[in-house]
Amino acid sequence: MSVLQKTKPSNEQMAKFIGKDVLDIAQFTKEELDTICQTAAYYEEALDAKKILHDMEGKIMASLFFEPSTRTRLSFEAAMLRLGGSVITVSEAAGAQTSSAAKGETLHDAIKVIDLYCDVIVCRSPIKGSRFESSAAADIPVVNGGDGAGQHPTQALLDLYTIYKEKGSIDGLTYALIGDLKNGRTVHSLIDAVSMYDIKKVILASPQELMMPEDIVANIRAKGIEIEECHDLNYAAQNADVLYMTRIQRERFQDPETYEKVKDLFVMDNSHVKMFREGAIVLHPLPRVNEIAVEVDEYSGAAYFRQAGNGVPARMAILALVTGSVK
Ligand code: CP
Repeated sequence: MSVLQKTKPSNEQMAKFIGKDVLDIAQFTKEELDTICQTAAYYEEALDAKKILHDMEGKIMASLFFEPSTRTRLSFEAAMLRLGGSVITVSEAAGAQTSSAAKGETLHDAIKVIDLYCDVIVCRSPIKGSRFESSAAADIPVVNGGDGAGQHPTQALLDLYTIYKEKGSIDGLTYALIGDLKNGRTVHSLIDAVSMYDIKKVILASPQELMMPEDIVANIRAKGIEIEECHDLNYAAQNADVLYMTRIQRERFQDPETYEKVKDLFVMDNSHVKMFREGAIVLHPLPRVNEIAVEVDEYSGAAYFRQAGNGVPARMAILALVTGSVK
């Protein structure tokens, strides 16, 4: 049976998620990742049919973003509203604070209190590893919306869902993760996700200064996955079925000179598109700066805007599964 079968998950499948946090991809089994994609397909069909859903009626999601976001915050909020639920929000960055973080309140204390106001918390923080602090403070499910240069599990879930939709399978493909692999939390989560499948190979293409952390590479190699590391965008363009571009994460650099040195080294344009394998797709978590030329948007396999749209059904699936609300 296809993963994207558009049928409601069984009670047995749903029971594995109820009350759980979503902190990183490694917490899931391959079957659980597929259940999330199946549930996303189920909700996407309902959205396409313009059904009014009541699955999370009476429930509240707290949306806590202590770092800028467009897609993650708004697609989670849209997902909750599409499920008939309600949203309370803290959205702020350093220097523009409206919550009591400005008075020195710790993330732990804030979450401990917000836990009393809602049914599920989605939290983004600039601090790598803060997902564990949030999880420890809450009794209700906490979903990591990105913790610094750590993990971004819900992005990887919508990425998997997109690859299923675009390519029909995660298995048998060569993946190229390209750009800022050191600081990009999306690729840290995605490599964990695809390594659970029967994939062909992962190519890691980055500037020398921005290679994937060694512990992540070692962990994936230990699973028997072939990894090639290189500093050559052309090689990645010629040899992958899924090209996952990332932005150079300026906000994570201590030293502006290093950012200036690397910021224009990995820029995809139509000269790369001409090198692609038949049927190759290009993904990007967005926002983009300059790493994909606008001319590439015309390529039929440029799937990054479709990918961003998949954030709503994927996040509907996550919210409804962890709160036991799939009706
Ligand atoms: N992909 C992603 O996390 O985008 P935002 O930073 O806009 O949420």
